Amino acid sequence: MKNGAMSITAETLRTWLEEDKPVFVLDVRPRDQREEWQIPGSHYVDAYQRLKVGDMSVMDEVRIPANIPVVTVCEAGRTSMIAAGELMKKGVEVYSLQGGMKAWSLAWNEAELKNGKAEIVQVRRTGKGCLSYVLASGGEAVVLDASVEPEVYIKLAKENNWQIKYVLDTHIHADHLSRSPQLARMTKSELFMPDQDKVNFPFHTISDNQTLKFGSSVIRAIHTPGHTLESTTYILNDKYLFTGDTLFINGVGRPDLKADSDATRARAGLLFRSLQKLLALPGETIVLPGHTSKPVEFDNEVIQRSLGDIKVSVEMLRLNEEEFIDRVLQGIPATPPNYLSIIEKNLKGDYSDINPVDLEAGANRCAIS
Ligand SMILES: [Fe+2]
Repeated sequence: MKNGAMSITAETLRTWLEEDKPVFVLDVRPRDQREEWQIPGSHYVDAYQRLKVGDMSVMDEVRIPANIPVVTVCEAGRTSMIAAGELMKKGVEVYSLQGGMKAWSLAWNEAELKNGKAEIVQVRRTGKGCLSYVLASGGEAVVLDASVEPEVYIKLAKENNWQIKYVLDTHIHADHLSRSPQLARMTKSELFMPDQDKVNFPFHTISDNQTLKFGSSVIRAIHTPGHTLESTTYILNDKYLFTGDTLFINGVGRPDLKADSDATRARAGLLFRSLQKLLALPGETIVLPGHTSKPVEFDNEVIQRSLGDIKVSVEMLRLNEEEFIDRVLQGIPATPPNYLSIIEKNLKGDYSDINPVDLEAGANRCAIS
């Protein structure tokens, strides 16, 4: 810290935001990076180039509220340190976010849903928008699509006196490293994966219509191929539908990753039929997806939508099969960065030889709407 400015970890900033502590987060990255993803509620100044060339006057242009700590943010934590140094000279209580947005990639928040027999905690990786879940019933818990460090789920279970019984994934992920194998090992719980012969680690197979009981609750698997061939949706107590990357609250999953154009078309057709299966469920079924396309706010609001509402608002769900396939093929977004390396690690079930954030940094590009 050459200029004497202090720094703050992503975990501390995450906790401040979760606890609603007043803080002025100031993003100083280039505009294109800002547009890709950002910290919810953060402010922006287009200062990157000027700070790089030593033009500190740019910091005079930022209107900082009085008596609120400021956290400056850049991509890796260097330019934000320069910005913090300048603000410090003005007498501002300021911290630079250590490791920048790369470190922020692992930040998370949570929101809860309680309903009779079961409690659902949505654990949201705020930057990437990955949504994972802890489902609890009668002192037993199931973790679904673990995408933040295993310790987060372990701590949550411990605080609530829940014993993690099962760890499940909806599919082999391409946009984040699955923490499920590691979490299952650490908690000595049973790891379930959809039926496939791709991964190279031990797991229990879960296939269409199979059920898992925990506490007084039950999860049933619904095989929903399309996004990937093994993709599986889980329904909790016939009410809550965990759709992974098959169905989002405002769109559907992409069918193209690791597939050539013929395979992509075939998978789009499978996706159509899988979605028909889900759409046949009662309209009041609650969809809890595997992703959201925007950074997740620290608002404790569960990201959810009823199947009935989704049917009305997502127009492409009302297309026929042929139209649907065409729409999906036209709407495929740019491929997510590093997805091949991420899949490779997820097939191994081990990423201990790398720093996860190096592979996972950036926003999510999963949905087609
Ligand atoms: Fe996915």
